[in-house]
Amino acid sequence: MPPGWEPRDHLFVDDLKKNFGPTKVLHGVTMHLRRKETAVIIGGSGAGKTTLLRILIGLERPTTGHVWVDGEDMSALSDYEMNRMRQQFGMVFQYAALLDSLTVFDNVAFPLREHRKKMSRAEQRDKVVGMLNLLGLENKEERMPSELSGGQRKRVGLARALMLEPQILIYDEPTSGLDPLTSRMVDDLIEETRDRFGITSVVISHDMASTFRIAHQAFLVVQGRVIAHGTPDELAHGDNEEARNFIKASGVATDSVSRVDKPAPPEETTQVQRSPTSVE
Ligand SMILES: Nc1ncnc2c1ncn2[C@@H]1O[C@H](COP(=O)(O)OP(=O)(O)OP(=O)(O)O)[C@@H](O)[C@H]1O
Ligand SMILES: [Mg+2]
Repeated sequence: MPPGWEPRDHLFVDDLKKNFGPTKVLHGVTMHLRRKETAVIIGGSGAGKTTLLRILIGLERPTTGHVWVDGEDMSALSDYEMNRMRQQFGMVFQYAALLDSLTVFDNVAFPLREHRKKMSRAEQRDKVVGMLNLLGLENKEERMPSELSGGQRKRVGLARALMLEPQILIYDEPTSGLDPLTSRMVDDLIEETRDRFGITSVVISHDMASTFRIAHQAFLVVQGRVIAHGTPDELAHGDNEEARNFIKASGVATDSVSRVDKPAPPEETTQVQRSPTSVE
């Protein structure tokens, strides 16, 4: 394992820097994303969250620094190896990004047709219908995306992301554009999915109530740097003034929201105590 790797890490983002020409966007981001936990990346517009996410899933290469997945250095992979590695990641896009001209079934089956060419039609059907049922979308296979509610579309997007059985799921703004009740349902869904499939979740969010409900750890990104991390509670009440102000400005009542479920199951490996909130 690389220097700095911690026993509970699934992804270790190690001093990542990214420039676009003369523009410096990420200035040395370090994050430990723990296995089977939910990490939420928060931060203002233009802070570099999407850039970070694109590097995490291998769509963009860092200028310097590394992303280690299970101890393997993504930044050192060839394009061919990167393609293989990418299959460990599922991506749930903002607004679900469904193909409007395809049925729900065809949207969800898409990754299987692309990447599991040897799978029989019958197996594909079982897998797709099984996942749709699991996510509460019984008998919706032949619907068109336009016939679904926002929450249902999210679930179709999630079903599609789960088809290749990823170990890491990345959600880009999963609750944006949803009403508060549907947002809660999506939060529950993220946590149920993590729990049921033993997945590591990384969520980019502007929604502080949601962050409080799902995050084991939150990372606050300001101008291309992680300026604070810890549980949302630690950020809201800790030493870092900028973090406290960021959360206060969101208007969320930090004393009345808390995580939706029990903490993540402990790892078998020895646990290393880390300082809860640190300032970098
Ligand atoms: N391909 C690119 N070329 C040049 N500059 C870029 C590129 N991609 C992003 N940037 C710049 O990097 C900065 C961070 O952008 P990014 O999209 O990562 O922010 P963000 O935190 O996701 O913001 P938002 O919350 O608005 O989505 C911005 O100033 C943006 O203009
Ligand atoms: Mg963005």
